[in-house]
Amino acid sequence: MTISTTSLIKKYGFEYPFKPDSLAKKALNFIKSGNSLLDIGCGEGADSVFFAEKGFRVVAIDNTNIYLDRLRAFQRDNHLPNISIQNCDVISYSYPQNYYDIINCLLVGCCMKRSEFENMLVSIKQSVKPNGVIIMSLRNYLDPELKDYSNSAKMIEPNTYLKKDDCCKIRYFIEKGRLKELFKDFNILYYFEGLTPDKYNEFPKRGDSYIICRRKIGNKVNTNLTS
Ligand SMILES: C[S@@+](CC[C@H](N)C(=O)[O-])C[C@H]1O[C@@H](n2cnc3c(N)ncnc32)[C@H](O)[C@@H]1O
Repeated sequence: MTISTTSLIKKYGFEYPFKPDSLAKKALNFIKSGNSLLDIGCGEGADSVFFAEKGFRVVAIDNTNIYLDRLRAFQRDNHLPNISIQNCDVISYSYPQNYYDIINCLLVGCCMKRSEFENMLVSIKQSVKPNGVIIMSLRNYLDPELKDYSNSAKMIEPNTYLKKDDCCKIRYFIEKGRLKELFKDFNILYYFEGLTPDKYNEFPKRGDSYIICRRKIGNKVNTNLTS
């Protein structure tokens, strides 16, 4: 990224400077430039821009207009024709089957109910092509914020809290080992579950679960995810 942080914030109103997620950077070891990539819940588009600059054909979806407008303005001024930006609800989105080479979904499943995340996950697993790669992260059971939520917010589903004054309104903290279990029919290329600083170093420790995994060729995707 050649554009300065100050101008990103001043000119486009970005809340944060562009900084690709460390998981997105790690995923470059397993994916090929030129391939199609769906960025689910792209937000302001730090990872969409990162992948587009590396030559991927990116479809970026989110339903927060203010974020998408910033990304659109940035795209207009910079040469990034390989990002297609769509405003849609990622829970009800019609994910095309066997379509994308790569699906990136970072810190999005934790902004919805557990049941919504798991239903969406079935569609995501079917939307990536056989031999395609899914990159995913969620806040987990180790996150220090979980304590505040369990004390002050209403639990509406297992490990899912409703907090009206929170930007996401709903927070789901994925359980121990659950992300790995949900992808047991995929080949796991990288997995991490633990405490780690957030990417802007605002919080020294966040509880995160990360996965990079590949859909097996010739295997039917497991659509029964009951725990
Ligand atoms: C914590 S942010 C993560 C953004 C980005 N993936 C990143 O890692 O920087 C969560 C994003 O998911 C989006 N999101 C949450 N629920 C959504 C839904 N049901 N439909 C579309 N976007 C959603 C929010 O608008 C927000 O941009």
